Amino acid sequence: MEFFETLYQRRSVRKYTAQPVDPSLVKQILEAANRAPSAGNLQAYEVVVVTDAGRRQQLAETSFRQMFVAEAPVVLVFFANPARCRERYGDLADRLLALQDATIACAYAELAAAALGLGACWIGGFGEAVVREVCEAPESWIPIALLPIGHRAEQPELQPRRTLEDLCKYL
Ligand SMILES: Cc1cc2nc3c(=O)[nH]c(=O)nc-3n(C[C@H](O)[C@H](O)[C@H](O)COP(=O)(O)O)c2cc1C
Repeated sequence: MEFFETLYQRRSVRKYTAQPVDPSLVKQILEAANRAPSAGNLQAYEVVVVTDAGRRQQLAETSFRQMFVAEAPVVLVFFANPARCRERYGDLADRLLALQDATIACAYAELAAAALGLGACWIGGFGEAVVREVCEAPESWIPIALLPIGHRAEQPELQPRRTLEDLCKYL
């Protein structure tokens, strides 16, 4: 799909068919995330690819029981890993940079999924300790977002946005 078409057609998809997502598509999504910019190109984030049904169930439960998370055949979990950029950026690594690295990588992945015709939905609320445990992640990784991905079983309406007049201030 052409970039702007992807951008304007993407919507959060919360219903998926049982059809597995081909590993080559997952790889394309991960490669797209890997092209995201990052502070000093240090890529201070990690991605855990969860396909195990039991783990997906636990992720869904800890995401305020949003059970559609478990229905997606693949859930990508994005973690900030400030240790990867702390030496260069000190305190800023923990406060801002690693969080931004993980966030923009997830955004790239979400757009890539849309471009491939798949459905995905950003999940931003969950029990951090549970997500870490499910993903076998060390204490130092900060879970930022979950991205369940699957073949779409719904085509939700495009959601409205603020006008640019409201959103932007021009100086
Ligand atoms: C930081 C963040 C957290 C979100 N958390 C959730 C969530 O927990 N559950 C959910 O269904 N959607 C979640 N969303 C998706 C938003 O609800 C969605 O992007 C918004 O309603 C606009 O709809 P659209 O993505 O279809 O344009 C989240 C999105 C962001 C960026």
